[in-house]
Amino acid sequence: MNHQLRVYNDIFEMLPSEENPSPLVRINRLNPAPEFALYAKLEWMNPFGSVKDRAAWAMLRDLEERGELGNGRGLVEPTSGNTGISLAALARARGYHLRAVVPNKVPLEKKILLKIAGAELDVVSDELCPAPGLGDGSINLAKTHAKASSHRYVMPNQYENEKNVEAHLRTTGPEIWRQTEGRITHLFVSLGTCGTATGTARFLRGQNPRLKVIAVQPTEGHDVPGLRNLSQLDVSRLFDRSLIDDLLEIDYKLAYTRALELCQTEGLLAGPSSGLILEGARRILERDRAGLGVMIFSDNVFKYTANMVKHIPALAAGTQA
Ligand SMILES: Cc1ncc(COP(=O)(O)O)c(C=O)c1O
Repeated sequence: MNHQLRVYNDIFEMLPSEENPSPLVRINRLNPAPEFALYAKLEWMNPFGSVKDRAAWAMLRDLEERGELGNGRGLVEPTSGNTGISLAALARARGYHLRAVVPNKVPLEKKILLKIAGAELDVVSDELCPAPGLGDGSINLAKTHAKASSHRYVMPNQYENEKNVEAHLRTTGPEIWRQTEGRITHLFVSLGTCGTATGTARFLRGQNPRLKVIAVQPTEGHDVPGLRNLSQLDVSRLFDRSLIDDLLEIDYKLAYTRALELCQTEGLLAGPSSGLILEGARRILERDRAGLGVMIFSDNVFKYTANMVKHIPALAAGTQA
């Protein structure tokens, strides 16, 4: 393994760590406060394309170390896509199988990617799982499989698994602290399982108790995959409200328009959850005019072309002969 030359013996060596951090890129044209240095941490540069590589790897390794995998036993996990894609690719590269339980409303791109990565799909109907993010329906179904077929499946359960938080305590937090040379004043995150927010904030607060943590949530009825509104957050055991200074609720449609602006103004091909974070950061920068902020951009726009067209129909213009 040589991080400088970027030569690796296998894909596992490419997973992010303090020695191999995901990049921080400064926001220039979309920054409303020139005295405030605003950076995006590009999690889509991780080997399987999202922030979820961190939690998936930590949970998989833990199960492996505890002897829970192998001899025909693989994984079952509820996912809105990203955890499943990371987990499927990692599991297959280790010789295990993954059954991914996904709500029907997850974008088709993600369902196909899950299959390409080698997952077996279990799609949960809209009645059982009305939210596009992870719903109780998919969590319960995954639990049922894990219980009824325990010889075939073990369930990491990203909503309750402390390894999800630990992954960010050990990697994302230390990476940011080092990359900003301890100068970070604001952390901007979105909330799904809350592993990213809790783990990263816990580490950075330990270094600087005055650090401000800002979390964004989409308005109710949203269709931003991976994210949760506060009313949907009780499924996560990992949410720690005491670490969050500002919890902003933002019109979910702005997730899409801000993502497009990031693509077309900063050259950052960010997905909708990153768009929502940018909107939150811009609001805070109008208030706190100076500092150094880091936004965790969980994934890129490639998996959301259909959702982007749904919200910005003009994108479809001129695409047919
Ligand atoms: C696109 C996207 N953004 C943000 C998140 C939130 O991350 P976390 O689950 O660590 O709260 C997720 C989680 O699945 C996601 O898929």
